[in-house]
Amino acid sequence: MTTDVTTIETPRIQLPALGFGTFQLDPDDTYRCVTAALEVGYRHIDTAQMYRNEEAVGRAIDDSPVDRDEVFLTTKVPPDAAAPTDVERTHKESLQRLGVDHVDLLLLHWPSEHVAPLEATLEAFTDLREREMTRHIGVSNFPSAMLQRAFDLALIVTDQVEHHPYLAVDRIIEVLDANDGFLTAYCPLAQGAVLDDPVLVDIGQAHGVGPVQVTVRWLLQRGISAIPRTSKPERVASNADVFGFELDADEMARIDGLRRGQRLIDPASLQVPWDED
Ligand SMILES: NC(=O)c1ccc[n+]([C@@H]2O[C@H](COP(=O)([O-])OP(=O)(O)OC[C@H]3O[C@@H](n4cnc5c(N)ncnc54)[C@H](OP(=O)(O)O)[C@@H]3O)[C@@H](O)[C@H]2O)c1
Repeated sequence: MTTDVTTIETPRIQLPALGFGTFQLDPDDTYRCVTAALEVGYRHIDTAQMYRNEEAVGRAIDDSPVDRDEVFLTTKVPPDAAAPTDVERTHKESLQRLGVDHVDLLLLHWPSEHVAPLEATLEAFTDLREREMTRHIGVSNFPSAMLQRAFDLALIVTDQVEHHPYLAVDRIIEVLDANDGFLTAYCPLAQGAVLDDPVLVDIGQAHGVGPVQVTVRWLLQRGISAIPRTSKPERVASNADVFGFELDADEMARIDGLRRGQRLIDPASLQVPWDED
């Protein structure tokens, strides 16, 4: 295979396919792990207003010898702040905490029509993009029909959704492909569950790697951006050791076969109408 798995490239955006996730990292771990991530070569960091660690992410980027311009930085507006004035106000607060004048990607963290119509929210996102407070905009946790509506309303680039070997998202991928978007897979390691998977362990043995690397590679080879997280700086580098081997078609199919509709993140209060894949 000759495709460059290091980079996501669509007509509208280019970014490092492998990012570092920061969900559930407290500020100290965030600072330590983002620092380690930048040191070992990650150039894509994922945070959110709701993670309460933007200040630590910003400090780690600022203290790193890596130029801010080399880092693809994503943050997210929570659904409670989906009213247009709140989108702008809370994003300005994000930028201040992060210590930057723009992010590279701003996502609507969850569907939010209980707070404001999607049209109005995405108009506010578009306005922030036009004012260069973010280079790109996107959504997160949007099932396929809602995602198509978002594409009809705004120049979004991605849907960041839960995706790992145990949860397929075929319909979302179809909508993204039809609209020149890309998928960002969150919980790519199924929050650690892939570690014990005999199929992933077996495939890894053939390549001298572990199930984490096999899983991340399976995502990247399908043109998907993956943002694994660890709270252990010593795991940051090994989790990124995914560029020295290649999975063949049979191995890819074996991993595809692990799907079992297992969703880990599903807040009852939001009642998202997920696709049946
Ligand atoms: N948009 C959304 O709504 C949303 C929702 C959830 C997540 N996300 C994003 O996606 C990112 C990734 O998802 P996630 O953090 O939920 O889960 P994840 O990356 O699938 O898994 C993280 C878990 O795997 C463990 N782990 C990682 N590397 C390991 C290794 N080498 N050996 C053993 N255990 C390992 C970590 O434990 P240790 O810390 O002990 O290493 C942690 O418990 C988040 O950080 C966040 O940026 C977005």
